Amino acid sequence: MNKQVKTYHIVTFGCQMNERDSETLAGMLEDAGYIGAEDKTSADVVVFNTCSIRDNADKRFFGVLGQWKKRKLSRPDMTVVVCGCMMQQAHIVDAIHRKYSWVDLILGTHNIHRFPELLSDAQSRSGHLSEIWDDAGAVVEELPACRKYPFKAYVNIMYGCNNFCTYCIVPYTRGRERSRRPEDILLEIREIAAQGAKEVTLLGQNVNSYGKSPQGSEGYRTDDVPGGPDFAGLIRMIDEIPGVERIRFMTSHPKDISDDLIRAYAECKHLCPHIHLPVQSGSDAVLTKMNRKYDRTRYLSIVASLRESCPDIAVTTDLIVGFPGESEEDFQDTLDLVETVRFDSAFTFLYSPRKGTPAYSSAEQVPNDVKHDRFDRLIEVIHRIQGEKSRLYQGTTVQVLAEGPSRTDAGRFTGRTESSKVVDFSGTPDVVGRIVPVRITDAGTFSLTGELVR
Ligand code: SAH
Ligand code: SF4
Ligand code: F3S
Repeated sequence: MNKQVKTYHIVTFGCQMNERDSETLAGMLEDAGYIGAEDKTSADVVVFNTCSIRDNADKRFFGVLGQWKKRKLSRPDMTVVVCGCMMQQAHIVDAIHRKYSWVDLILGTHNIHRFPELLSDAQSRSGHLSEIWDDAGAVVEELPACRKYPFKAYVNIMYGCNNFCTYCIVPYTRGRERSRRPEDILLEIREIAAQGAKEVTLLGQNVNSYGKSPQGSEGYRTDDVPGGPDFAGLIRMIDEIPGVERIRFMTSHPKDISDDLIRAYAECKHLCPHIHLPVQSGSDAVLTKMNRKYDRTRYLSIVASLRESCPDIAVTTDLIVGFPGESEEDFQDTLDLVETVRFDSAFTFLYSPRKGTPAYSSAEQVPNDVKHDRFDRLIEVIHRIQGEKSRLYQGTTVQVLAEGPSRTDAGRFTGRTESSKVVDFSGTPDVVGRIVPVRITDAGTFSLTGELVR
């Protein structure tokens, strides 16, 4: 390889927001003449885009960062950058200053558009540079992006979160809600669709409050724009864009779901029959302590309406066990809700206390062994139901967007159904990036197996 060309490597932790931000960071690096490193250890710029959602995310980052110390010390010309949600917390930045002073640049989530300038400043001085903004400014448009896939794309529609669920760090690391203007979103989607993107996933911590930020907030507000679309309206507009075959979104907060969004499942041709609707707990007492602002009755009625509008809809969720004050009875309510809804799949988390959030200092912390015991019992029920629902696919033919070769088997490919089930199937390399019919021959708990229908 030409040694004159500078290379980069980005390590991304956390959610789709971070994955999307990493695409922006990569785009800015490529604009500055860098190319992706084939061998990460020889990269000229290494970026760690961090997540702080649970304690194990913090620990994983520090573990990985520690492994780079030797490389950095043997190659002082390498630039090490850390950014993302962890950096929006003063105690983390302090720890980097103290224990990882060989890091060259620290930036936060609100100033990633300043990355090119900060990088070149950091490279032209000795000692490290740190710039963190406490608050987000206005939404910055037209940043470059180097997208991971040509055929499916993440598109931010809003940033930040105003919900302050009492366990969650995100409102502190991502700031207040700001929605992008519909015209900017539609322009971006038209462009990527013209370049071959078939699937778009709209991103926001709470997409249902798109355009609903409080008065005076930065960003697009439906109240200020007569006739401007809310979230369901935006989906209806995207549904008309030529080339867009699948629309997905993440994440949807139950308290803000609208009847119009529920109707959109029946009416929009390209809205995938899947909703990720985090419930967190099945106990009303715990939901109140979490500040979720809905109860189990409301949640169950939303699921019923969704299934009425779209009978085949797959419903997936997030659940936390061991939230402070959760009793065995509360936990039984969660098990009962899981049996009632019958989720297609669920992410389950052990409650992890986050410094700076209200639940962190609660005196009612649940002992670790109790948390683990409940966690095990919960995933047993979730996996049983997931397996039962998965087996309904046996013998059916599904439409799969093929994403690439299977990791385990040459001649096999992996992709997702409209309902977001993972399918591993036999095919030929030309399927990649296309939506193809696949007959399901075997249905396991976590994935489906099938063969391409010619
Ligand atoms: N904005 C999304 C969630 C983003 S975080 C929403 O509200 O739906 C993804 C998931 O991580 C949450 O749904 C929650 O289940 C889990 N989570 C967040 N903070 C947590 C914590 N402190 N401990 C354990 N799980 C947590
Ligand atoms: Fe966190 Fe709640 Fe906001 Fe989701 S809605 S990001 S769980 S505070
Ligand atoms: Fe993690 Fe930040 Fe996402 S804390 S889950 S990367 S918004």
